[in-house]
Amino acid sequence: MCKKNGSNKVAIVTGAGQGIGLSIAKKFLKEGLNVAFIDNNERLLNTVKNLYQDDTKTLFLLTDVSDKQSVKEGVSTILHQWGRIDVLVNNAAIRKETPLEEITEEEWNLIISVNLGGTFFISQAVVNTMKQQQRGRIINVSSFGGQFGPLTSGAHYSASKAGQITLTKVFARSLADQGITVNAITPAAIETPEMDNMDPEKLNKMKESIPVKRFGDSEDVSDMVLYLSSPSASYITGATFDINGGLLMR
Ligand SMILES: NC(=O)c1ccc[n+]([C@@H]2O[C@H](COP(=O)([O-])OP(=O)(O)OC[C@H]3O[C@@H](n4cnc5c(N)ncnc54)[C@H](O)[C@@H]3O)[C@@H](O)[C@H]2O)c1
Repeated sequence: MCKKNGSNKVAIVTGAGQGIGLSIAKKFLKEGLNVAFIDNNERLLNTVKNLYQDDTKTLFLLTDVSDKQSVKEGVSTILHQWGRIDVLVNNAAIRKETPLEEITEEEWNLIISVNLGGTFFISQAVVNTMKQQQRGRIINVSSFGGQFGPLTSGAHYSASKAGQITLTKVFARSLADQGITVNAITPAAIETPEMDNMDPEKLNKMKESIPVKRFGDSEDVSDMVLYLSSPSASYITGATFDINGGLLMR
């Protein structure tokens, strides 16, 4: 059994407007944590706000993780409201499948600045608070694509996800003696609304290639995030956890 997260604890989840991020944020709320939902999509953020708003337990912040100033303002709003930050989940990302030869400079910069820059800037912004507390958990949602190279995603996406795994180790090593752990997870083929628009035949083929013969769901991911953010995981840092149904065994 995992020791429970405390009820005055504060978690930040980036990209919490839908998909895996929303599932993680909901899991933290259920566990009694205070949760800051961060997203740069106002429509998504308003929808989840209408569903999950609780005056004392939630904050909904329209923040672009790739914009250092926007991140700084978001983090200071959270500190003003709750005075502490226990868990940061770097989940916000953009995935594109653009072929190698067609990736423009603009698209390259966008993907790297959101997926990798966003992870760096918000982690940097919470570290002082976590150091003062002598406790903290940072979980970076990377990807199978960052380990294996692209199957269905572009070079920029895979490179950004590989970068997140290295950032995880850099932060983990420099914060390990301060009660702060930093870990990465590497999901693959998690069922999200995006799949609704994909060719059923292609989806079936994908499913058949997964050793456990099913797609993952966002609960498979959020359960692992919850464990890594709990006191039970205090001896785990700098690690990368695969959530991929056996697609990559290493
Ligand atoms: N779904 C999968 O199969 C899968 C597989 C491997 C890894 N992942 C990783 O899991 C994470 C979540 O994936 P998902 O499928 O739920 O994605 P998604 O696209 O459904 O959700 C991503 C969220 O991030 C938000 N976002 C995008 N740019 C942002 C920015 N600049 N600032 C703040 N928020 C921003 C979006 O608005 C969206 O709400 C990503 O890091 C992704 O790389 C997903």
